[in-house]
Amino acid sequence: MKTVLSGIRPTGNLHLGNYYGALINFVKMQQENRCFFFIADWHSLTTHPDPKTLHINVKDVLSQYLACGLNPEQSTIYVQSDVPEIAELYLLLNMHAYLGELEKTVSFKEKARQNPNNVNAGLLTYPVLMATDILIHNADYVPVGKDQEQHLEMTRTYANRFNSKYGVKYFKQPKPFNFGQELIKIPGLDGSGKMGKSEGNCIYLIDEPKIIEKKVKGALTDNGPEGENSPKPNYIENLFTILKVVSTEEVVSFYENLWNSGEQRWYGKLKAQLAEDIIKVTSPMREKINDIKNDDEFLRRVTEIGAEKARESASKTLKDVREIMGFRSF
Ligand code: TYM
Repeated sequence: MKTVLSGIRPTGNLHLGNYYGALINFVKMQQENRCFFFIADWHSLTTHPDPKTLHINVKDVLSQYLACGLNPEQSTIYVQSDVPEIAELYLLLNMHAYLGELEKTVSFKEKARQNPNNVNAGLLTYPVLMATDILIHNADYVPVGKDQEQHLEMTRTYANRFNSKYGVKYFKQPKPFNFGQELIKIPGLDGSGKMGKSEGNCIYLIDEPKIIEKKVKGALTDNGPEGENSPKPNYIENLFTILKVVSTEEVVSFYENLWNSGEQRWYGKLKAQLAEDIIKVTSPMREKINDIKNDDEFLRRVTEIGAEKARESASKTLKDVREIMGFRSF
């Protein structure tokens, strides 16, 4: 049985990108693997969230995880800060992470550019904390979107470095996991590259159908193809990317054919179909969310059991790592 680990930062509601990046095929995945789904609340600290909203954000992601269909009886669902073992392994791995490589990380450079007054040490060592999350359960697979590819690569570097430094074969080489070979990037409807909370272009899983219809209707389009088999501009390719994940193959090939025919004036129909299929995906979860969110007792039980199971797995790893590194008790 393989170990799968998936994580999301509690910085807002879950959107389609999170769903297709981090929760892909979770029903089957939970049945066939040892799965961990966690809320990366320590990761969210790099931007200093308001203490009044931190817990609310964690609760939102937890409720939405459960509303999506994550099953606490099959999987371990936990909050990162409930597992102190992660902090200790993070400290130990930090000693093997070098300034040069951390400074070169794309996400670090981007965040440092966007927020030059908040380049904190946690931001620099963010990839080490993420590697810790993965290695603490010695995960085989990590469902992620394209934006996390480099972090996964760094995790493999740290796993390798640890193994060769101490002459062991302890850590596995965790692999990113998503649709087919390529990691997915769900684009925004505004023609931008990525759907993301900070980009402000998300379709949230909790969006009401009316809102989804409005957002999709507002997606950037033009007059249509400029002839038969012409290349698609990025913003049209984006709509097809989303269509491919939410719709059936028949629907996708119907619109691919329309595009290739060079015909114009069918974007209205495409958008209506896209909205309908997105609503089909999100509705079952939206309908459950409030009941789950209001059931504090259930949420408490899930996180307590989750923390217990996650700590059991994490402390086993930590015990081995301590021993490998030479810590002994008297
Ligand atoms: P976060 O919270 O930004 O995003 C959570 C997951 O959603 C994926 N994702 C996307 N996938 C496809 N298209 C998009 N537009 C899109 N937007 C977000 C992300 O790739 C991610 O899989 N550092 C992580 C959280 C984390 C983590 C981990 C993930 C911490 N430790 C260990 C996996 C394993 C993050 O900020 O994701």
